[in-house]
Amino acid sequence: MRVKIAGVELRSPVIAASGTFAYGVEFEEILSTDRIGAFVTKGLSLHPMDGNKAPRIIETTGGMMNAIGLQNIGVDAFIADKLPGIRKMRGSVCIANVFGYSIEDCIGVIERLNKAEGLVMYELNASCPNTKHGGMVFGTDPESLGELVSRCKAVSKRPLLVKLSPNVTNIGGMARVAEAAGADAVSLVNTFLSLAIDTETRKPRIANITGGLSGPAIKPIAVRMVWDVARSVNIPIIGMGGIAKAEDAVEFLLAGATAVEVGTASYADPRAAEKIANNLERWCISHDVAKVADLTGGLRL
Ligand SMILES: Cc1cc2nc3c(=O)[nH]c(=O)nc-3n(C[C@H](O)[C@H](O)[C@H](O)COP(=O)(O)O)c2cc1C
Repeated sequence: MRVKIAGVELRSPVIAASGTFAYGVEFEEILSTDRIGAFVTKGLSLHPMDGNKAPRIIETTGGMMNAIGLQNIGVDAFIADKLPGIRKMRGSVCIANVFGYSIEDCIGVIERLNKAEGLVMYELNASCPNTKHGGMVFGTDPESLGELVSRCKAVSKRPLLVKLSPNVTNIGGMARVAEAAGADAVSLVNTFLSLAIDTETRKPRIANITGGLSGPAIKPIAVRMVWDVARSVNIPIIGMGGIAKAEDAVEFLLAGATAVEVGTASYADPRAAEKIANNLERWCISHDVAKVADLTGGLRL
């Protein structure tokens, strides 16, 4: 079940996704972290953030919408209060998710994390508005994305995984920009920009007005995007979007992903990532797949 991403070997290709697995330590009693490949922390910013007003999570057909607003304890509190516990967890492999509203903020987070022990990689969330450029989302503007990635890569002492926004026309082109700027791998997809309206009050169902759609409803779009990216870059891909069972993970691997992340499914069942990892191993055995890595890019046309 082992896979390798940017020189880091993971015992399973199944990873718990950012924003759905807290800071990892909270799941210690819930699942066996040594059964999943890794987990990704909630997005970490330079300073703590309160996030948006409620309601900020709703259920939709086949998925959910959220506008948490990147609430987090900030990188310093993460290093002081969470990382010591993470280091003690049995077989835990932690990827830190990083974001900022300016490139300097992202660099500040990475530089602080560089000095800390117990992390294998950074996942840079490019779906965040660049306040210095009038709120344009880094991940939807090729020039901003290129600058963000190259400057973060220059200071990063660990492999840099760039998480792409799906809210673009040409996701393959954005992945090429990330690769050219030095990304060691890309992960996709983040959530899709969406709007739900309460027909009685005629108001948005989420206080922030719009939110990000995730869960099974987005899976076929996400698989198509992974396939597009796989034909555009040579760096490894981590695929996600609506994975709820082992066969969903297999689809992403066949489309070209080396590993997968499980997000929204953890809301329905906090042990989802472990169950999917176990069932993926069973699936490989029952389908005579000797190595899970052999599935990557195995789509037959
Ligand atoms: C409540 C919630 C919070 C999230 N927070 C983050 C975050 O802080 N950083 C990030 O890169 N992605 C975040 N995501 C996106 C997920 O990691 C994932 O990319 C997305 O939900 C698609 O996968 P899924 O359909 O399996 O959930 C969040 C998703 C949800 C549902």
